[in-house]
Amino acid sequence: MRKKVTVVGAGNVGATCAMRIADKELADVVLVDVVEGVPQGKSLDLMQSGPVEGYDVTLTGANNYEPTANSDVVVITAGLPRKPGMSRDDLLLANYEIVRNATEQAAKYSPNAILVIVSNPLDAMCWTALQVSKFSKNRVVGMAGVLDTARFRTFIAQELNVSMENVIAMVLGGHGDTMVPLTRLSSVSGIPLTELMDQETLDKIVKRTANGGAEIVGYLKTGSAYYAPAAATVEMVESILKDKKKVLPCAAFLEGEYGVKGLFCGVPVKLGARGIEKVYELKLTADESAALKKSADAVEELVGIIKQKMG
Ligand code: NAI
Ligand code: 2OP
Repeated sequence: MRKKVTVVGAGNVGATCAMRIADKELADVVLVDVVEGVPQGKSLDLMQSGPVEGYDVTLTGANNYEPTANSDVVVITAGLPRKPGMSRDDLLLANYEIVRNATEQAAKYSPNAILVIVSNPLDAMCWTALQVSKFSKNRVVGMAGVLDTARFRTFIAQELNVSMENVIAMVLGGHGDTMVPLTRLSSVSGIPLTELMDQETLDKIVKRTANGGAEIVGYLKTGSAYYAPAAATVEMVESILKDKKKVLPCAAFLEGEYGVKGLFCGVPVKLGARGIEKVYELKLTADESAALKKSADAVEELVGIIKQKMG
């Protein structure tokens, strides 16, 4: 039987996720949005690409959750994207309501699904989804690290004029300005970055990575990035559906790992059919630990605001 993936939010990230899932023939897709006609129109348009692209998946658009029943994976991209001058955190309360509603509905119709959260501010939205769904922590995972490392890898490959495929990188922490690119554990085919570029260049790349989302918002002006975010999300969805057990940086609910308790934060995880099957706890240097703590504190502040709102 074919796998089934629901994508909530048929905007830029959601529709591009649906397209990449169809292109890879990973699953049938149900696109859900509040705007009438948009998920239906985009699904039909994507279905009609099938004969040309050579895929046989069914794409369905809906404004309610009934057609999403028994999805294997639910990707939540519903929400407002960033506009120039806005931080991800400005989106907090508006997207909290949207993600709460989407999670309630998705969990009701697909009680066994794995939830992949994309909406921003990412780590706080993951926390919302975990609280609302009451799923076990392994079944709620956030997409950010795969995107942030993809940006880091791109900039390194461009700087060194080497294949992007050969660049291995790791980014920890929340999806925000305080993310922690781990240069010490990044390499080109095993050659440490520190042997390939000077510290000044590396620092510049780290800064550009942390600012990677804002750089694109600055160009687009009316929204934020979506091609790379969708590619990153679908890499996670594929690892879950095919039980590939890829080791990827994802937002996971931590209960003491890395000294973080009761919060989502980006860490290396094994992603398979059961969702997060393992959190890898790396030995960090004092500087890295301090940077991770700062990042986790930023996530905690946002979760605190949500907790206040929840009363
Ligand atoms: P978009 O504006 O193109 O699409 C969002 C869609 O959500 C719209 O079609 C809207 O109608 C829909 N929506 C709003 N309320 C809804 C509800 N209650 N139920 C269902 N659908 C609803 O925005 P885009 O670019 O697709 O971004 C979506 C979210 O993903 C934003 O919060 C953005 O900040 C976030 N994002 C996160 C990334 C990450 O690394 N975690 C990367 C890129 C985007
Ligand atoms: C990004 O990093 C806006 O979070 C989104 O592109």
